[in-house]
Amino acid sequence: MWKRYITVSKLEEAIEIKAAEGMSARIVAGATDLMLELEKGGHKEVSTLVDISRVNGLNSIHVDDDGWIHLGPMVTHNSVIASSILRKFAAPLVQACWSVGSPQIRNRGTVAGNLITASPANDTITPLMAMGAYLVLTSTNGSRIVSLDEFYTGVRKTLLQPHEVLTDIYFPAIRENQKGIFIKYALRNAQAISLVNIAMVMDFENGFIQNANITLGAVAPTIIHAREAERLLIGKQINDLVIREAADLVQMAAKPITDVRSSAEYRKKIVRVVAKRGLEALSLQETPTIPENPVLLSTSVDPVCLPEQIVHAQTEKIITKINGKSYEFSSGWDKSLLRLLREDAGLIGTKEGCAEGECGACTVILDGCAVMSCLVPAPRAYLAEIQTIEGVSTDGKLDPVQTAFMEEGAVQCGYCTPGFIMSAHKLLEEYPTPSQEQILQSLTGNLCRCTGYYSIISAVEKAAKAVREPEV
Ligand SMILES: Cc1cc2nc3c(=O)[nH]c(=O)nc-3n(C[C@H](O)[C@H](O)[C@H](O)COP(=O)(O)OP(=O)(O)OC[C@H]3O[C@@H](n4cnc5c(N)ncnc54)[C@H](O)[C@@H]3O)c2cc1C
Ligand code: FES
Ligand code: FES
Repeated sequence: MWKRYITVSKLEEAIEIKAAEGMSARIVAGATDLMLELEKGGHKEVSTLVDISRVNGLNSIHVDDDGWIHLGPMVTHNSVIASSILRKFAAPLVQACWSVGSPQIRNRGTVAGNLITASPANDTITPLMAMGAYLVLTSTNGSRIVSLDEFYTGVRKTLLQPHEVLTDIYFPAIRENQKGIFIKYALRNAQAISLVNIAMVMDFENGFIQNANITLGAVAPTIIHAREAERLLIGKQINDLVIREAADLVQMAAKPITDVRSSAEYRKKIVRVVAKRGLEALSLQETPTIPENPVLLSTSVDPVCLPEQIVHAQTEKIITKINGKSYEFSSGWDKSLLRLLREDAGLIGTKEGCAEGECGACTVILDGCAVMSCLVPAPRAYLAEIQTIEGVSTDGKLDPVQTAFMEEGAVQCGYCTPGFIMSAHKLLEEYPTPSQEQILQSLTGNLCRCTGYYSIISAVEKAAKAVREPEV
C-alpha cells in the first residue's frame, strides 16, 4: 500500500516532507478517505504517508478578535459536534458534521480531509461555502489564502498544490441577525452519502433579507451557489410566493447527473423540495437542531499527541498497548490496524466485514474513541491505548453488554457481534443511562445481516439497566 509511514509531532515537519516529495507524499489526517482509496489501488504515485494526527494543537477551534472562527486541520466531525462555540456560531456546519457517516467515522474523519477529498457530495463543503470560509494553504515558501468559493476546479479537483498543506479553515461566526441551515437528503439516516445537500445562510433586517447565500451539494461537479435564487431573495421577506420562486431558481441552478444513488431527474426534483424546506424552516425559525447530548462514542475528542521531539518512522517498532498489555511490532507498517490486531497480535475477535468503514464489525476503541479499525493505518497504534473485544470482560467476568446479548438472543451467526458490543460498551461509558434515541445513534455504524435489530437494542437496554442497578 505505502512504502514509508512517518508520524510527525510538528506541522513544519510535514510541510518539509511535502516540499521534498510533492505528489508522492500524502498527508494523513483521519485516513477515512485515504485508506479506502489506497486499498482500492488508487494514488499509485504515493509512496510516503505523513501522519499529522498526533501533532499538538491541530484540533483547535477558536474565535479570533475579529469574530472569525478558526478550525485546525485535525478538527474531526465529532469535535465540531461537541464544540459549544460551533453549536452557537456555526449551526449549519454542526448539522452537516452530525450527518456524516457514523460515530466511528466522525471520531476519525476531519473537516479538512472532507474539504480536500473534494467530492461534490461531501457534506461540510456546502455549509462552509455558504458561511464564506477561507483556507490557508502552507508550503515552505509561506502561506496563501484561498476562498472556498474558488478552491474547487472540478470533480475531486482543487487548487491545493502538491507541496502545500491545509493549515487553517476560517469563516465569520454567524451573527444575531443571521440565520443558517443545512439539510441533507440521502437514502438512509446514517452511513449515507448525500443525494442532495443544501446550506443557506441569510442576513435579516426587520424581517427583510439583506444578503443570501445558498449552496448546493451533489448536483454539479463541485459545490455551487444558487446565484439567481440568492439575488431574488435580497430585499424580500420570506413568504409562500417568495419560497416558491426561490425554490424554482434553486432547482434551475442544479445540473445533476445520474449515478448509482439517484437519477438526475430525481435529484432535480429533490433539490427543489430541500430548498423549499430550508426556506420554510428559516421563516419559521425552526432550523433543525442536533441533540443536546449527542452520542460521540468517545470519551475525549482531544487526540493523544506525540512529544515534540519524536518523529516516528518505520525504522522503529510499533510500541503500543492493547487491552492493558504492552506489545512491540516490527512488522505491520503497511497495513490497517484491523490487520495488525488480527495478524500480528493474534487478536481475531475483531472482524473484517466490508473493509470500507461501512459495517462496524471491526470497531475497536483507540485512545478512548470508537473507530473502524479497517480504516486506521496500523502505525497509528504507536504509543496508543487500544481496547478490543478480548479486553471487554474483566477478571474473567463477562461485561454486562456481553451477558445481555446472550440473554436477549442478540446473536445469530455472531460475525457482527464484537463490533456491536464495542459500540454498546462505549455508549454505556459515555452515557450510563442512555435514552432509546442514544442507543439507536450508538449503533448507526454497525450492521447485522441476520439477527435483526430489536433484540440487539433490547440487549443494550438490558445492559444499561445492569450497569445502573448491579446485582449484589
Ligand atoms: C463509511 C463512510 C461513511 C462516510 N460518510 C460520509 C458522509 O456521510 N458525508 C461526508 O461528507 N463524508 C463521508 N465520508 C467521507 C469521509 O469520512 C470524510 O471525507 C472525512 O471527513 C475525510 O477526513 P479524513 O481526516 O479521514 O481525511 P483523510 O482520509 O486523512 O484525507 C483525505 C484527503 O485529504 C488530504 N489531506 C487531509 N488533511 C490534509 C491537510 N491538512 N493538508 C493537505 N492535505 C490533507 C489527504 O492527503 C487525502 O488526500 C464517509 C466515509 C466512510 C468511509
Ligand atoms: S467497517 Fe471495518 S470491516 Fe466493515
Ligand atoms: S448475527 Fe450474523 S451478522 Fe449479525
